[in-house]
Amino acid sequence: MKKIAVLNQKGGVGKTTSVTNIAAALAMEGKRVAAIDFDPQAHLTIHLGVNPEQVQTGAYRLLTEETSFEQEIVHVRENLWLLPANIHLVGAESELVSVVGRETILREALAEVDEKFDYLIIDCAPSLGLLTLNALAAVDEVMIPLQPHFLALQGLSKLLQTVELVNKRINPVLKVRWILLCMFDSRASLPNEVKADIEKFLENARGTNCAWAGAEVLPVQVRPNIKLAEAPSYGQTIFEYEPHCNGAEDYKRIAHYIAGLRQEKKDTEPTAVEGEESQKPIEINIQTVENSSQKEIQIKDTQSF
Ligand SMILES: Nc1ncnc2c1ncn2[C@@H]1O[C@H](COP(=O)(O)OP(=O)(O)OP(=O)(O)O)[C@@H](O)[C@H]1O
Ligand SMILES: [Mg+2]
Repeated sequence: MKKIAVLNQKGGVGKTTSVTNIAAALAMEGKRVAAIDFDPQAHLTIHLGVNPEQVQTGAYRLLTEETSFEQEIVHVRENLWLLPANIHLVGAESELVSVVGRETILREALAEVDEKFDYLIIDCAPSLGLLTLNALAAVDEVMIPLQPHFLALQGLSKLLQTVELVNKRINPVLKVRWILLCMFDSRASLPNEVKADIEKFLENARGTNCAWAGAEVLPVQVRPNIKLAEAPSYGQTIFEYEPHCNGAEDYKRIAHYIAGLRQEKKDTEPTAVEGEESQKPIEINIQTVENSSQKEIQIKDTQSF
């Protein structure tokens, strides 16, 4: 089973939309997929058409009671299972505060279903608390969705350092594998500049032993598409709601790429929006601990679990 946590502590960047539609696309390819809602907002649960108020089973019980992963999941589509969330999940962090081994509860629960699914995809909450730590302890790979504007990159260093810390202390196989650019308008220059800067940053990490040394900006970006924003209110994936829209096409290509079912051509050079002056590339301050004197991204600051 390939296990992926979709994580960014910044809110509204496309985590839930990506988990829903990548999981659905993989399931449509015949892969057996388990999607985990690890966010008390329960947006993944709602997006997949399950009412969180009627959820009896799910992530909260898995973390706090003697139960098993298989007892807590619900079958939501052909080949697709959901570990649902509801608002009780908010309380899990404080309830577990004195429990020994609280950061590896999910990992232990997943050990017995390793053969039963091809993919496990976790929708993380926009925070770096105990729920996220459980997710990072349980998976092999992290996918970071981000919106390519300048402010979106502000928290990236802290996020990368958090993954690094978990990798060193709890989960030695954990790696940042994918950066997924969501709501990406390729006609504007800023998104392309942000993308180029992230690629350069990742390139500099190649060959090192940091947790993002093998990370790749996915060659397919998710275009802004209103259908993706409408689908959740119908409890439908994009393939059910509007199967021929850009959003459906993008997520299908992304899922195929992740699963190794399709090669993608290298991106073409960025194209500027008509009439826009060519601008100086922005400087992105992504630094590693070694060369940084900035307090906010030092590794000790990530130990807030
Ligand atoms: N490509 C897109 N085009 C247009 N709207 C989008 C796109 N992707 C996501 N959205 C919308 O943007 C909003 C935020 O997306 P989403 O809920 O997936 O982000 P998130 O990172 O999970 O947020 P949170 O941190 O609150 O969990 C939602 O209303 C969603 O429908
Ligand atoms: Mg979300």
